[in-house]
Amino acid sequence: MKILTLETSCDETAAAVVTDELEVLGSVVASQDELHRRFGGVVPEIASRAHLERILPVIDEALRVAGVTLERIDAVAVVNAPGLAGSLLVGLAAAKTLAVARSLPLIAVNHLQAHIYACRLAAGREIFPCVGLVASGGHSNLYRCDGPLDFDLLGATIDDAAGEAFDKVASMMGLPYPGGPAIERAARGGDPRAYPLPRAFLQDEDRLDFSFSGLKTAVRYQLVGPGKSDFSEVRLDPRQVADLAASFQEAVVDCLVAKAFLCLRRTGLATLCVGGGVAANGRLRERLEAESRSRGVRLHVAPPRLCTDNAAMAAIAVERFRAGRFENLDLDVFPGVVRTAS
Ligand code: KG4
Ligand code: ZN
Repeated sequence: MKILTLETSCDETAAAVVTDELEVLGSVVASQDELHRRFGGVVPEIASRAHLERILPVIDEALRVAGVTLERIDAVAVVNAPGLAGSLLVGLAAAKTLAVARSLPLIAVNHLQAHIYACRLAAGREIFPCVGLVASGGHSNLYRCDGPLDFDLLGATIDDAAGEAFDKVASMMGLPYPGGPAIERAARGGDPRAYPLPRAFLQDEDRLDFSFSGLKTAVRYQLVGPGKSDFSEVRLDPRQVADLAASFQEAVVDCLVAKAFLCLRRTGLATLCVGGGVAANGRLRERLEAESRSRGVRLHVAPPRLCTDNAAMAAIAVERFRAGRFENLDLDVFPGVVRTAS
């Protein structure tokens, strides 16, 4: 059984062909980073137009790489939540069209659940039940995952997502978009203790939430001072860039690690699965590994190529296929996070 999966929730146009054995036969991602770079972040209208241009060539390419034709596809799955409405609609329209044209069952995929499922794909064995941490450009969420169709949202950011903070801080520091990899590179050799930056709710054992906007403002004050917004005058020497990048990165990592392990203690679960673009960060991976080792937690972090947006992780559609969870053609997009999204 082969499923064609589509992912257009943000600024990557992606398609993959996966089997019911969770084998990825072909996976293609067309990044739009170049288009959004000069704006320092994703521009929704540009993103949806680019998806429109790319979706059909990307599907063709995924089928070609997989070595299958559309006639050999048994179902079509599409990410319909959460994300940018205009972007999600492009994938959904393509999926519905294929479903109608080829009489294929249609499967809905939640983008954040797919980020966690990337760990299942990479592990090659069961990961549930687990605590799931998704740290991406749009979300920083903690889930109790009792099974592939049973996700319960236990914590989230109350303002910026972790990746969004990376992108905004990079932009303030004059580093390129996307900010996460740029800050990680800049932080190499930097002193993570050079700048004292805030870690929201770190000591608060009652909260599973994140907040990164105060941290972002603290970096801004280091650069230009309160009330100022002109970053063109900022002059940092290479040591200061490395130290500030390392200090910021460490503050984000401290919060993500602390709340993930608080969630494990709260739920009594012993497995932690981490996905989303920020999970590609080497320092976060290092700290998660060290902490898991010392606490006896089984850790799965998606491999970097499955952390950033892709359609292979939408293989979670296989689980929905098995459970007979199919959609009608009136399926809509849901840009916001649904608390229990199964
Ligand atoms: O999951 P993703 O590809 O898209 C969303 O669902 O948002 O995540 C993109 C985010 C961006 O904010 C990007 O800066 C961040 O992931 N990111 C990283 C790294 N690579 C990507 N953040 C920190 N370190 C990285 N190496
Ligand atoms: Zn994502």
